[in-house]
Amino acid sequence: MHFIQKMIVTAALVASVVATKAQNNLIPIETKSNAIILQVTGDGHLNTIYFGRKLTDKNEYQYTQHFFHLDGNGVFNSAYTGTTRNLLEPAIAVTHADGNKSVDLKYVSRSVDKISEDVSQVNVSLKDPVYDLEVTLHYKIYYADDVIEQWSTIEHHEKKNITLNKYASANLLLQAKSYWLKQYHGEWAKEMRPEEEQLTHGIKTLDSKLGTRADIFQPPSFMVALDKPVAEDDGDVLLANLEWSGNFRFDLEVDPTDNLRLIAGINNYASDYSLKPGEEFETPKLVYALSHHGAGEASRDMQDWARKYKIVDGEGPRLTLLNNWESTYFDFNETKLADLLKDTKKLGVDLFLLDDGWFGNKYPRNDDHAGLGDWQENKAKLPHGIGYLVKEAENDGVKFGIWVEPEMVNPKSELFEKHTDWVVKQPQRDEYMMRNQFVLDLSNPKVQEFVFNTVDGLFWKNPGLAYIKWDCNAVMYNVYSAYEKDQSNFYVDYVRGLYKVLAQLRAKYPKIPMMLCSGGGGRVDYGALQYFTEYWPSDNTEPLERVFIQWEYSYFYPALASANHVTNWGKEPIKYRVDVAMMGKLGFDVPVSKLSPDELTFCQDAIKNYKAYSEAIWHGEQYRLQSPWDNDAASIMYVDKAKSKAIMFNYLVNNRYDKGTYQPIKLKGLDPAKKYAVKEINLYPGSKTGIREGTYSGDFLMTVGVNPEVHEGRASVVIGIDEQK
Ligand code: DGJ
Repeated sequence: MHFIQKMIVTAALVASVVATKAQNNLIPIETKSNAIILQVTGDGHLNTIYFGRKLTDKNEYQYTQHFFHLDGNGVFNSAYTGTTRNLLEPAIAVTHADGNKSVDLKYVSRSVDKISEDVSQVNVSLKDPVYDLEVTLHYKIYYADDVIEQWSTIEHHEKKNITLNKYASANLLLQAKSYWLKQYHGEWAKEMRPEEEQLTHGIKTLDSKLGTRADIFQPPSFMVALDKPVAEDDGDVLLANLEWSGNFRFDLEVDPTDNLRLIAGINNYASDYSLKPGEEFETPKLVYALSHHGAGEASRDMQDWARKYKIVDGEGPRLTLLNNWESTYFDFNETKLADLLKDTKKLGVDLFLLDDGWFGNKYPRNDDHAGLGDWQENKAKLPHGIGYLVKEAENDGVKFGIWVEPEMVNPKSELFEKHTDWVVKQPQRDEYMMRNQFVLDLSNPKVQEFVFNTVDGLFWKNPGLAYIKWDCNAVMYNVYSAYEKDQSNFYVDYVRGLYKVLAQLRAKYPKIPMMLCSGGGGRVDYGALQYFTEYWPSDNTEPLERVFIQWEYSYFYPALASANHVTNWGKEPIKYRVDVAMMGKLGFDVPVSKLSPDELTFCQDAIKNYKAYSEAIWHGEQYRLQSPWDNDAASIMYVDKAKSKAIMFNYLVNNRYDKGTYQPIKLKGLDPAKKYAVKEINLYPGSKTGIREGTYSGDFLMTVGVNPEVHEGRASVVIGIDEQK
């Protein structure tokens, strides 16, 4: 061989050996469209060198590190930042048994578990070379949905307890020219108000410190768009939610190399966790979806994932219902309820839901000052007990469900008299409560048993019971647990105690539908939703408000999980209220007996329409067509997976003179080659359609669109789209 040829072959061989070595040092975490590439550095640290669109040739991932701006010392892009070599926000901070506060983690091993055809899990073990501390990073990959759940487990074998000062679930790295954070804020009845800003250098923190739940001021959900603000159908958008119903903290740090470091997990506020030798600390999961086609696609991925893998019975049906909260509040008796059961049937919904106020004898629950905790039927209101009502419901051909708030107690209750040490409160300070109630100390196994028995008892006494609404109205003040040895563990152990009870209940009652309510939408997160079939988005059921609230929740949660009730909030006609509630899990909370004959007929027909299109709403793909924030009318549609049946909801959101829809709105998600009959449904008795009904191709509907003709007098319009064969 010629000398030059030899040189080329040798160079190629050397290059390929180097490449293979570099390749071996890479840990790819790949979904259908994306890849996170972790790299074991020469000195054994684990860094993130890439998170983005998947490359066709895996061998090329090794080069990405040279193309992005990373810090020369390999510190800012640590895959799980410790404290020793760190200059930025850490993912983990520890006080060792000897008081030393340094953490430096080096790569040990990796494993991949194949869980199913579509799901696998990558585990990467890290260890501190000086202290006997191990961290394993877990990435559960939902390949087809482009969704990843990430969390970590921490364990040590030091001589005494160590203190975890910080223990993030995930430490991600995003690389772009600019980062746009869409976050949410709120208050009671003002949930999910979006705000968007470009992140600047330094740290932006989103967090909560409410103890019993994640939200009232800030939900544990957000999105980040790369290079430009969040758009519905284009651009890179990451959607994330922390699966934790307690205090959370997200730190979004644009670092000195212009990368975005995202550190997410439990809030370490007042929570320096004391960990025994050999005990494993598992963080909650951060779930995220990255799309290159805007927030719309990311949300459809997240919704699909939630239905398949997270929410209880996510691929099953949901029950329509009549709730009595707003029609009776605490003021009811057996006769009134018997009438409401008949109304449930008349209306045509599946279930009657008895709300707060059915319990307490020594301290009857006639308002929110007394009785909470005493879960025995109030004899004056319900002399024949819940069992009688369940049977009555059966006779009327409907199901029966009930409200509970088992984590809480009024000081005016027999439970409090017996167990003052079961409540969360400071022994030496003035009492301070929300809604006149204390939080029960769920870190205490006796309290866990009590809460389990409360709900379990309802089921074994009333086997026909078909539904639970689980409420949680108070946040935590004056945090102190008479049970905990280490007060710093309490916030974390409370949520773990709650999950333990819920897991026990779910093991015994795997499919019973349960609604998760928390004084409105305080507990809407995937940590809790793994035990529930649906959530209560807000006590604000004013339908115009709900258009906005439901719109924003829908980015993170599927419609079948959103319990939308028609109530008497607001001035909109019943049609608008029902049309809005239909874009989710439909329920009613109105006095049926006070509906006019036309109103009743409208509701009955709307429930039938809802059932006819429920497959699309519950299990189909959701497309946001026109946002209520930038348009006079909001428009949204759901298409079933077979692309054969779809429903489009349109709501006027601007009451100024002559506002409405003057152009067709392009539909999405249909099959261009199919023919669809387009028909206005949910028409109020006596009114006629205002749209151009007819049969059109999917191509036409997605290219030209449909004008729903939303105007004053036609403030909400629902359109059915049915394949014609
Ligand atoms: C708060 C909930 O959000 C309401 O729907 C209702 O169930 C009340 N609690 C009952 O006290």
